Amino acid sequence: RPLDASKLEVTKNTTPKPLSKPEDLVFGKEFTDHMLTIEWNKEEGWLNPKITPYQNLSLDPATCVFHYAFECFEGLKAYKDKSGKVRLFRPDKNMARLNKSSARIALPTFDSEALIELISKFVQLEAAKIPEQRGYSLYLRPTMIGTQKTLGVGPPGSALLYVIASPVGPYYPTGFKAVSLEATDYAVRAWPGGVGDKKLGANYAPCIVPQLEASSRGHQQNLWLFGEEQYVTEVGTMNMFAAIKDKKTGQKELVTAPLDGTILEGVTRDSVLALARERLIPEGWKISERKYTITELAEASKEGRLLEAFGAGTAAIVSPIRKIAWKDETIDCGLKATEESGEIALKMKNWIEAIQYGDEEHEWSYVS
Ligand code: COI
Repeated sequence: RPLDASKLEVTKNTTPKPLSKPEDLVFGKEFTDHMLTIEWNKEEGWLNPKITPYQNLSLDPATCVFHYAFECFEGLKAYKDKSGKVRLFRPDKNMARLNKSSARIALPTFDSEALIELISKFVQLEAAKIPEQRGYSLYLRPTMIGTQKTLGVGPPGSALLYVIASPVGPYYPTGFKAVSLEATDYAVRAWPGGVGDKKLGANYAPCIVPQLEASSRGHQQNLWLFGEEQYVTEVGTMNMFAAIKDKKTGQKELVTAPLDGTILEGVTRDSVLALARERLIPEGWKISERKYTITELAEASKEGRLLEAFGAGTAAIVSPIRKIAWKDETIDCGLKATEESGEIALKMKNWIEAIQYGDEEHEWSYVS
């Protein structure tokens, strides 16, 4: 049976609990009163979707997710617009990616439109829990796990797809703050032929130790390099962008690593690229998805040609970068001491937020 949104069964929570005041929200710590769950098994396919009170899962200790990491997830946000309508930002992109991630680890795929419809119903039910202020939203976490009880290494015969929702505030409550990075040279996040382009939980746990290492030396995040050439790939859990001026021609270029299988196919990455192509090319910019190295950034910085750099992801939208520690060098990323963001990062944040909050009507905003 395919996933059928019309079969949704809703059980309302009769003991809803209050949430913290918006200004006290910490990312991903508090959840709404309901969850969406859909079970799958290989004999029957997708069972009826259910919205139930938020609750613990009960799983046998031998369940395959605990042993062989049959888990993938998504992150997307629901926003309340000026007229009180609830909007999702490019949910089709997250559904497509979840299906790709799921298929890669032998979990089932599903009809994307059906899950968008179910998520729509879920966020409408939780509408009162979506903070209205600018910078606030409801972070949605679609998750798929293998639920078969077996230590046998094979495709799970059963799975659970669920969605939970966490009201969140701006990533930087005090406004934009440019971060300091440490380039990690002793570990790699992803490699050719690997699964770095999929949103698997297994890709995230091994990234914490390098993050702690960077943090122990006073940096907020680590920068992932790859290969002998030391290609710049990603920053923490975000895609990375750099604005560089060409040495000979002075041409301004916004560059990010290409989707060669080692880079997560970020929805914000894609949005930044599309907006840059539409709105920055007319201002004389060149937009590139190409490989670039830390040496290229270091050289551009020394010559005053590194204009700015920023991370891009759903949680923060954009995260401006002040400097990168690399070996014995510190690469200055072009911000003045008094600045917390470069011009492009700030423009992107404003452009993307205008679409997310429905100030600008755009096909990326899905009214639920
Ligand atoms: C993002 O949105 O930048 C992320 O991927 C972070 C998420 C794993 C919390």
